Amino acid sequence: MLFFLDTADIQEIETGLEWGMVDGVTTNPSLIAKQGKAYLPTVLEVARLVPGPVSGEVLATDYEGMLDQGRRLAALAENVVVKLPLGPAGLRAVRTLAAEGIKSNVTLCFSAAQALLAGKAGAAYISPFIGRLDDVGQDGMLLIEEVVEIYEHYDFETQVLVASVRHPMHVVQSAQLGAGVVTLPFDVLQKLYRHPLTDNGLERFLSDWRKTGKSFDD
Ligand code: G3P
Repeated sequence: MLFFLDTADIQEIETGLEWGMVDGVTTNPSLIAKQGKAYLPTVLEVARLVPGPVSGEVLATDYEGMLDQGRRLAALAENVVVKLPLGPAGLRAVRTLAAEGIKSNVTLCFSAAQALLAGKAGAAYISPFIGRLDDVGQDGMLLIEEVVEIYEHYDFETQVLVASVRHPMHVVQSAQLGAGVVTLPFDVLQKLYRHPLTDNGLERFLSDWRKTGKSFDD
């Protein structure tokens, strides 16, 4: 399973890379706005830092505008994946960009029917937003189950990229279902490492050894 970081924060990305757990990054307009920096230069900065795929989203909502912005995003660096919203214009742009060799990540997916369309259009990634479904009383994980099952039946190029992740169980359950990629906020990546018994166990090992009065080299 690939781990992407869902952030435009350079420090978070640098830390995730140091830990060896970051295979790529996803950004969106909200995440870039949070950094208070210019749009395209931020995508470029992230793409230069990360060896794997970096999703940068178009801001246009019409087909021609999406194509223009998608091509400009893709021209920034080889690892940039163009993020396009679900809908006729976005999926039409996916097809056109795919024919030009440009990969896309279809975003704002909230149903299995939408994921099926993204697969047919030739998206490299489909991003079902599970946390936002949970927020409105639906089961986000059920959507991942449905999409993974549907994609297993066909030869789509599309990988399931679980998005809008809120806690470690979203990650674990996505892995159990065989989703190819999960994009994590940095705090969820941190939480994956933690368990109170690990901390307690380490403290006990070290305090037992301290009682001997000896050092590592004694
Ligand atoms: O990057 C898209 C997605 O992961 C957003 O998540 O937390 O804003 O629902 P969230």
